[in-house]
Amino acid sequence: MNPRQVLAVASECAPLVKTGGLADVVGALPAALAPLGWETRVLLPGYRAVLGALKRTRTLATIPSLLGHKARILAATVGELALLVLDAPTLYDRDGSPYLDAQGKDWHDNDLRFAALSKAAALVAGGAVKGWMPDLVHLHDWQAGLTPVYMAQDGVSLPSLMTIHNIAFHGLTAASRMEALELDRAGFTLDGFEYYGHVSALKAGLTGARAITTVSPTYAQELMTPEFGMGLDGVIRARADDLHGILNGIDTSVWNPATDQAIRPFSGPGGKAANKRDLRAEFGLAKARGPLCVVVSRLSGQKGLDLLLEALPTLIAGGGQVALLGSGDRRLENAWLAAAAAHPGMVGVRIGYDEALSHRMYAGGDAVLVPSRFEPCGLTQLYGLRYGALPVVARTGGLADTVIHANAAALSVGCATGITHAPDSIPALKAALARLCGLFSERPTYQRLQRNAMKHPVGWEASAPLYARLYARLADARTEAA
Ligand code: ADP
Ligand code: GLC
Repeated sequence: MNPRQVLAVASECAPLVKTGGLADVVGALPAALAPLGWETRVLLPGYRAVLGALKRTRTLATIPSLLGHKARILAATVGELALLVLDAPTLYDRDGSPYLDAQGKDWHDNDLRFAALSKAAALVAGGAVKGWMPDLVHLHDWQAGLTPVYMAQDGVSLPSLMTIHNIAFHGLTAASRMEALELDRAGFTLDGFEYYGHVSALKAGLTGARAITTVSPTYAQELMTPEFGMGLDGVIRARADDLHGILNGIDTSVWNPATDQAIRPFSGPGGKAANKRDLRAEFGLAKARGPLCVVVSRLSGQKGLDLLLEALPTLIAGGGQVALLGSGDRRLENAWLAAAAAHPGMVGVRIGYDEALSHRMYAGGDAVLVPSRFEPCGLTQLYGLRYGALPVVARTGGLADTVIHANAAALSVGCATGITHAPDSIPALKAALARLCGLFSERPTYQRLQRNAMKHPVGWEASAPLYARLYARLADARTEAA
């Protein structure tokens, strides 16, 4: 059978542009789906950094006015990854991150920038690229959320799937922007994209897509509760029958400790020692009797790293250390820098974003700490598993689905892979860190846990077929209806 075609739409895609796990997933899923008969093209904004990184592009379509802006759709490839790049210089040709200007503020026209991405997706779904028609449109997060609305306005009936990576971001904008975004008022309703008098791009996707997925089974359940639904739990409950929790995987060819060129490659816990020495030196850390814990994270309230600051004394009392790489909230950045100054040799902090360093951290760390308040899936614990840095994680979302707690029973059958604790609780986090230090002091037990962790399946083998099956169901339903 000829492969079927997916148009994936996202604001980030590794290795070209990444601020978090979304990019890793969007970049890795196509290769996992190809052997299952689904070919993907990823539609991505042509940010300055993206166009700069592409060697060769080919113009597939010219759009004289995309929500008032001149645009082109370019074809490009990066390795095996097929891209459609939306080149619209007045929207994307800027210094700064995909979402923030140089001062760290949201770009003033983010609503328009991502509405344009969604409108371009609808155009491609309607046949704007000569010789290529997708069978299905896969939308990632709010930045792609308006796509079903534009498709409906344009009379395009392709099935669409909306994936929620993080419900904290709604893509809200004022109702007065509807004209500029070329949104018909007809959709500005309770079961459309209206949200308390505003336009919500995420809600547009959640109400307009044929099916919804999120990135772990536990988060799928959590999303239907007021505690985690962030004001959209009612919308999601109404679509409970169309909601699927499919766990993220990681690209095990990129994240392979045995071949990773960013580290001293290793294939068992013993091989981590040289990486640990390097990492200690890199972060100015002393020799210590406890575990070297790493944190690689956006610094935001979600990640619970303020809780970790409170629990630090327990870890340090157990001889443990922290190396943290992250950026984001200025207050958290400063608080962590202050912690490093207060605990010289025991806490090391690097503010910034550094992909290669992140590899060295998973390789050199004895443990990776993820004390999130909520976590749709989380990838850093998966990298930790793969690199033998035992995850110590809050029992929430995908963290709960991916780490097997080292209780007595799990230890005795040999399936434990890390430590879990109640979320949003300093006492629980302290207890988990104390437990970590205790386990670390029993070296053979710790190494057994590391071996279990490194064997734990973290690739796309289990989840890619679930996506493929869902894709097929959506695409077949359309063919039958036609
Ligand atoms: P989220 O998407 O919520 O940020 P995930 O755990 O899903 O959380 O994904 C985070 C991804 O971003 C991981 O690949 C992690 O290694 C990476 N990452 C986060 N912060 C940094 C940083 N400062 N430098 C390098 N990589 C980072
Ligand atoms: C989001 C979530 C994270 C998830 C990632 C990829 O950024 O915060 O938990 O792993 O998306 O799906």
